[in-house]
Amino acid sequence: MVSYKELGLVNSRAIFKKAFEGKYAIPAFNFNNMEQMQAIIQACVEESSPVILQVSSGARKYANQTILRYIAQGAVEYAKELGKNIPIVLHLDHGDSLELCISCIEYGFSSVMIDGSHFPYEKNIEVTRSVVEYAHKHDVTVEGELGVLAGIEDDVKAEHHTYTQPEEVEDFVSKTGVDSLAISIGTSHGANKFKPEQCTRNAEGVLIPPPLRFDILEAVEKRIPGFPIVLHGASSVPPKYVEIINNHGGKLKDAIGIPEEELRHAAQSAVCKINIDSDGRLAMTAAIRETLDAHPEWFDPRQYLGPARDYLKELYKHKLVHVLGSAGKA
Ligand code: G3H
Ligand code: 13P
Ligand code: ZN
Repeated sequence: MVSYKELGLVNSRAIFKKAFEGKYAIPAFNFNNMEQMQAIIQACVEESSPVILQVSSGARKYANQTILRYIAQGAVEYAKELGKNIPIVLHLDHGDSLELCISCIEYGFSSVMIDGSHFPYEKNIEVTRSVVEYAHKHDVTVEGELGVLAGIEDDVKAEHHTYTQPEEVEDFVSKTGVDSLAISIGTSHGANKFKPEQCTRNAEGVLIPPPLRFDILEAVEKRIPGFPIVLHGASSVPPKYVEIINNHGGKLKDAIGIPEEELRHAAQSAVCKINIDSDGRLAMTAAIRETLDAHPEWFDPRQYLGPARDYLKELYKHKLVHVLGSAGKA
């Protein structure tokens, strides 16, 4: 067992309080390798932003739990070496069992999500409560979820959104003791968040997706004032990366994300954590395809992972400054 405190990490409590009061959101960037971690830390140090390093259960299997513990510790030391001791959280994304959450906490995670959103309401409360009981003994913060996002989540495919019911949130939060709550207001995971036929076109012919259900967010805020809300599935799917990918041999079809304007609006509300994974995947893939297409003779991974890291860093800096408002808040 290693405590996250020994690794120099923090839990999410204090940074969420500051984010709520300061009307910005903390970035939760998914990662599973060294280059992604380096890009996240470089961007957050240069922009002086707190950050949540987020690991899914699949990413944990891919990277290995012991290696991840050292990558997280490396992230803390790397930030200091770059000149800024920013708050860094190591968070489990979409934990599906008490056992997984315990194991992550034993390996140095400072925050866990227990996603019981696919269970019936009472079962969601039960499993979430059991994680909170264990986590709080170790001063680890817990994110729960109410409502189901459309698309693929936890290997479960939902055809439609099950929006969060605001009438349930007070009861859920008080019975479980969670520190933050993920809600469903129309975002979804992946790079195909909306079908083109669900969208309208603006004067320039750009597809505009249906708006998020900010009315639900507002109703939730009224029922649990001051409570940190989390937005999953918040990638914007920037067309420039999709274009690079498709111009260099890729075949991404109908890739549509959440407009940045809506995320800026969310970041100023009770939403304190915004999850971004797909945009990083797109930026990395765009750089790798572009580089290898221009230099088919190259075979040293540093020749294409270096540009991938640069694209990632540029993307993350953009998010901190222009979308989340967390730049300068470390
Ligand atoms: O919410 C899902 C995240 O994007 C993680 O995805 O399970 O493929 O690592 P993953
Ligand atoms: P995106 O697929 O929109 O990046 O969402 C990531 C996420 O919610 C991770 O939990
Ligand atoms: Zn998610």
